[in-house]
Amino acid sequence: MQKTLNIRKFAALAVLSLLVIAGCGKKPGASGKADLKKPMTAADSAVTATKVPYALKEGKRLFSHYCAVCHGETGDGSGQYYGLTPTPANFTDKAFMKTMTNERLFKAIMEGSASVGKSNMCPPWGKSFHGEELEFIVAYIRTLAGS
Ligand code: HEC
Repeated sequence: MQKTLNIRKFAALAVLSLLVIAGCGKKPGASGKADLKKPMTAADSAVTATKVPYALKEGKRLFSHYCAVCHGETGDGSGQYYGLTPTPANFTDKAFMKTMTNERLFKAIMEGSASVGKSNMCPPWGKSFHGEELEFIVAYIRTLAGS
């Protein structure tokens, strides 16, 4: 219970910091009028964060280093550890990525795939990265489906 609460808090913090990152990277008035009318959602802020070059570059570096061995350099699930069952998640699959909220991605990455009711094939990474690095990875993963 306590753990779930902490994760919620972390996810909320993570989303907040994404907003901050997004805010810093944005040039005033550069985002178009539509953005100003709608309240910003977590998904929007993640999308905006993906436009921040540093976050993306770091995300790509970390992903290549830690995740690509299973998830593949392009994130399509075909890393060199082929033959894994189940196959590693395919981050280039638009339909799949639509089902993935940022909260879900953070939880799966931090606590491993078993924590979200999947197999235990994706290890928990919570101790390997600090919050910002996790955000960079999630922002980068979000770009892989090309939207
Ligand atoms: C040892 C191989 C391996 C490594 C390394 C690995 N993964 Fe995975 N990952 C998997 C497998 C296999 C699955 C599919 C698990 C399933 O569907 O039961 C998965 C699933 C996922 C999912 C989807 C979970 C869900 O909610 O369905 C995410 C997100 C993910 N991995 C992120 C990462 C990130 C980020 C890294 C690097 C920090 C990483 N993985 C490294 C094997 C790996």
